[in-house]
Amino acid sequence: MLVPVCLVSIVSALLQVANAEVQAYDKIDFSNVGFAGTFTPVKKFSKIDSDDCSCEVADKQWFSGTNAPVSDYLSVHFRGPLKLNQFAFYDSPSFVISDSDSSSDWTRRAYYNSTSQTGENVTFLTGAGDDSKCLGKALTYADSDGTSKASSATLLKDDNEITSDQEFVIFSNVSCPKSGLNKDCGVYRSGIPAYYGFGGVTKMFLFDFEMPRESQANSSSFSYYDMPAIWLLNDHIPRTSQYPTNANCSCWASGCGEFDIFEVMNGTERDHFYSTFHTFQGIEILGTGIQSYGYIPRDTESSMKGGVIFDSAGNVVTFLSNSTTFDSSLTHSDIDTIFSKISTDETYSSALMTISATAPSTSAKSSGFSISTKTNGLWYYLFTLFTALTQVFMI
Ligand SMILES: *[C@@H]1O[C@H](CO)[C@@H](O)[C@H](O)[C@H]1NC(C)=O
Ligand SMILES: *[C@@H]1O[C@H](CO)[C@@H](O)[C@H](O)[C@H]1NC(C)=O
Ligand SMILES: *[C@@H]1O[C@H](CO)[C@@H](O)[C@H](O)[C@H]1NC(C)=O
Ligand SMILES: *[C@@H]1O[C@H](CO)[C@@H](O)[C@H](O)[C@H]1NC(C)=O
Ligand SMILES: *[C@@H]1O[C@H](CO)[C@@H](O)[C@H](O)[C@H]1NC(C)=O
Ligand SMILES: *[C@@H]1O[C@H](CO)[C@@H](O)[C@H](O)[C@H]1NC(C)=O
Ligand SMILES: *[C@@H]1O[C@H](CO)[C@@H](O)[C@H](O)[C@H]1NC(C)=O
Repeated sequence: MLVPVCLVSIVSALLQVANAEVQAYDKIDFSNVGFAGTFTPVKKFSKIDSDDCSCEVADKQWFSGTNAPVSDYLSVHFRGPLKLNQFAFYDSPSFVISDSDSSSDWTRRAYYNSTSQTGENVTFLTGAGDDSKCLGKALTYADSDGTSKASSATLLKDDNEITSDQEFVIFSNVSCPKSGLNKDCGVYRSGIPAYYGFGGVTKMFLFDFEMPRESQANSSSFSYYDMPAIWLLNDHIPRTSQYPTNANCSCWASGCGEFDIFEVMNGTERDHFYSTFHTFQGIEILGTGIQSYGYIPRDTESSMKGGVIFDSAGNVVTFLSNSTTFDSSLTHSDIDTIFSKISTDETYSSALMTISATAPSTSAKSSGFSISTKTNGLWYYLFTLFTALTQVFMI
């Protein structure tokens, strides 16, 4: 959809007004996460080594349910300046943040520890492979520094600080089946190491990390100078193309899912982490996404611990807490202890819009979404404005 230029400026003006009042929190809560929608998977790459490289997408695929589409398998992405001390992925048959009676324990399914050089169910990949005009660089195994190419799976070393613009990705150690539209990992680039990300509706990712100030002074040489981030992508995206020049070359633009856990945004303020859904749950502008209005402060001097919980009731919480532990099993009361150091006035809450749509039993392409809302937040206001203006412009 084409966004009218004047609408973009109205929206950005409103955001600037909003940003002036943005506050610091240690915990950001989203509720009502998950909806029924579609995305278009990549079907075919053509002439990827030439200038007229292109990609085709297949028919729409439906997703639905709690946390959808972020309920799918996710790859975990890191951008510097960053040092990773610990990473853990957990799942649980049922976990509801505010309800210990409906909750089971979390089980750790993947773990990395830099000092002990422990790596369980983790594969470190990076974009150090063949370059292509429309796909960008292919994934390869990452060497121990996180960013050079290795010929086989290699554990990230202890002294692993990466700089601005440098990135690595963590997948599980479970290999994908062959590339194919109806296969579990979808169509992916040939020759890449292809692994599943981390799946499940109810899941938790924990991090012990540092994001020191970028020490190199040549800021204009970088795309993301001193803008570190930790984020999650539908794992189909990096296996096709993370930074395509043609939107058909990954399922990102059609909304297969991204969640930014801790992301420094561009601007004068480098010490704010925002959390953002890049899904179409009640918004039309995927690039801006559904952003938290409040932010979590970035500590550039010491290590930070925290992460994100996707619970069984559509609550998604990002947090930093020095009480975060990485044990092989965590109970509801362990999570309460992590949160107990964070007071309610350090918590920012926002509800995503309710979208009801029913997946057709046939492969009909029309969808007919109906949107109702439970929120009176900024995004509801912007969305209403957007809808109103779009209607005006479409007449
Ligand atoms: C994207 O894919 C669709 C369906 O395969 C095709 O019709 C369209 O032309 C493609 N767009 C671009 C920019 O390649
Ligand atoms: C993992 O790392 C932390 C520090 O980053 C360390 O204190 C801890 O003992 C390590 N755990 C194991 C099991 O080695
Ligand atoms: C994957 O990781 C698990 C947990 O560390 C380990 O038991 C298993 O052998 C690994 N599998 C492969 C294929 O490396
Ligand atoms: C590794 O992670 C994958 C992806 O979530 C999961 O299916 C698998 O059970 C995990 N392996 C172990 C040994 O926990
Ligand atoms: C920035 O300058 C340093 C030398 O101070 C150099 O090593 C580095 O490659 C430069 N970075 C970029 C992205 O050009
Ligand atoms: C960040 O902002 C600077 C200055 O406005 C701009 O030159 C740069 O391209 C921006 N970077 C990104 C990643 O948006
Ligand atoms: C967390 O611990 C670090 C030291 O490792 C300390 O500098 C920081 O202030 C603590 N953060 C909070 C919120 O207590």
